Amino acid sequence: MLCLYGKAKKEKSEIPFYNLGERKEMFSAKEFIEKALEEIRESVGESRVISACSGGVDSTVTTFLVHKAVGKKLIAVFIDDGLRREGEPEFVMQTLKDLGIKAKYIDAKKDFFEVFKGKTDAEDKRKAFRDKFYKTLGKTAKDEKIGFIAQGTIKPDVMETVKGIKSQHNVLSQIGINPESYGYKILEPLRELFKPDVRKVARELGLPTEVSERMPFPGPALSLRVLGEVTPERVAIVRKATEIVEKETKRLGTFQNFAVLHNDMATGIKNGKRVYGNIITLRIVESEDAVTAKAKQVPYEILMRIAKRITEENPTVVRCLYDLTDKPPSTIEFE
Ligand code: XMP
Repeated sequence: MLCLYGKAKKEKSEIPFYNLGERKEMFSAKEFIEKALEEIRESVGESRVISACSGGVDSTVTTFLVHKAVGKKLIAVFIDDGLRREGEPEFVMQTLKDLGIKAKYIDAKKDFFEVFKGKTDAEDKRKAFRDKFYKTLGKTAKDEKIGFIAQGTIKPDVMETVKGIKSQHNVLSQIGINPESYGYKILEPLRELFKPDVRKVARELGLPTEVSERMPFPGPALSLRVLGEVTPERVAIVRKATEIVEKETKRLGTFQNFAVLHNDMATGIKNGKRVYGNIITLRIVESEDAVTAKAKQVPYEILMRIAKRITEENPTVVRCLYDLTDKPPSTIEFE
């Protein structure tokens, strides 16, 4: 495992809500990169590595590090699960191309929606996503005779999964699942890092600002933001609302801004007629590393504009709410 902060740090990283200020001073992105490249090369040896890049800063940094470390032995893939934001598949494929990384596009939209059928419980949905994700990756890995899967797991993913807060889709061994049962070994170069460190590494690697400063987005993507059953139609509603929220709040500089679709309905009025329609909640939070977060005091006119746009631009949405809760007691995502 990569040791990034020297001896003192290893001890600290075991403490769930540790002192971010102290950590910032100690972390050197340059040193981290040198060590990470060395360790990736050593672990991989003559094997080939597959890296699933979702376009987020964690998976892009991971993919780029592995590319730098082992060059042609890397196969980068983008799994299109049908749960990404508007324009995301095109953005990821283009970014990887611009970075000189040859990436394979895997269209798995149908497969993912199939496994969500009839599932409404948050943990069941996470597990279904995780299983389909690894099976899809494992299949490609087998087709390509690959030994390792690289992934962008970071420290909070591990902490929260181990503590049972939720099962992060990319943390396997910590919850007693042997990755080799899926047919490969796992490479997690960022597993001791928190989000601000990953951004530093991205900047140090010279990745484009759209990547290094990218708003965090969960691996299971919009499936976490559709409460209840995940269907293509329901994902489309939340995708549209997400686009509006992100656009209208861009200048706030907040940590994460998004929309959530509820699994119950409310009465409203559209074109003078009573309609029983969908409910969207807006979540806009400030945070440094996602371990804790504060609900943003967003200017009222911005909230009103978002609510107006979401209800006008989506015929099924009749109500828009704003989430005022910090983390803790809430989590950032709803599921
Ligand atoms: P929560 O909801 O636990 O989220 O406060 C903390 C941060 O993690 C992201 N998140 C995930 N990321 N797989 C991921 O890759 C997941 O299963 C997952 N669940 C939450 C969330 O968006 C936030 O940035």
